[in-house]
Amino acid sequence: MSTAKKDTEIRKVTTRRLIEMKQRGEKISMLTAYDFSMAALIDRAGIDVILVGDSASNVMAGNLTTLPITLDQMIYHGKSVVKAVKRALVIVDLPFGTYQGNSKEALASAIRVMKETHADAIKLEGGTEIRESVERILSAGIPIMGHLGLTPQSINKFGTYTVRARGEDEARKLISDVHTLEDVGCFGIVLEKIPAVLAERVASECLIPMIGIGAGSGVDGQVLVMHDMLGITQGFSPRFLRRYGNIGETITHAVQRYIEDVRSKDFPNEKEQY
Ligand code: KIV
Repeated sequence: MSTAKKDTEIRKVTTRRLIEMKQRGEKISMLTAYDFSMAALIDRAGIDVILVGDSASNVMAGNLTTLPITLDQMIYHGKSVVKAVKRALVIVDLPFGTYQGNSKEALASAIRVMKETHADAIKLEGGTEIRESVERILSAGIPIMGHLGLTPQSINKFGTYTVRARGEDEARKLISDVHTLEDVGCFGIVLEKIPAVLAERVASECLIPMIGIGAGSGVDGQVLVMHDMLGITQGFSPRFLRRYGNIGETITHAVQRYIEDVRSKDFPNEKEQY
């Protein structure tokens, strides 16, 4: 007998539910997805949050950084993911250049994402420097997840992807930014590549969930880029990444067998034709 739940029995994850999970000490699972088929698979597996990350710029488009991806491209990925998802909360990243300089433009970008993708929330990188944009977007009723620590949209300022907030000044700024984002009304924050002790400390000081990537186990949930954790991306193995599959190799082997079968005329056989 099938144990698959009917659509009417599925309880959609909400931003409030994530905060309740934190209160109950239940860890939140989050992964990226950028297309319909993968989003359907990870939603069916029971993931709590799907992030349509601007890492699509790297893993989908082959760019070196997240900077080149456009709002139209993020909306395309967001729409494809939302169509597949029944249970998970879907968050779409606002891409570089669409919210930093001008809060009216930030609101217009967020509204486009919400109207055109039907996602549940958006994510932005940065702290006090984008406070005005965050407040304006929140005032329109659009839920926001923050993103602090290593913020890849600022890679040209950092110059490196190494661990952030190791020094006292940067740690102090991060703590202050976390509290600012919580105070203005963000429902959660991604903490990327910061010392585990610092991440645990801010998680214990906040009511909203802190979701870590390279931030240790003392936070309220974890996020990974799906292509990294499944072993689809090649040559990327930071210390924080645990691989749960070697799908890249599986695909290469399957394609090699197909090529062999076509060349040897084994495919298609009599049963595979009309
Ligand atoms: O774009 C992305 O995939 C992200 C995660 C690394 C959190 O922001």
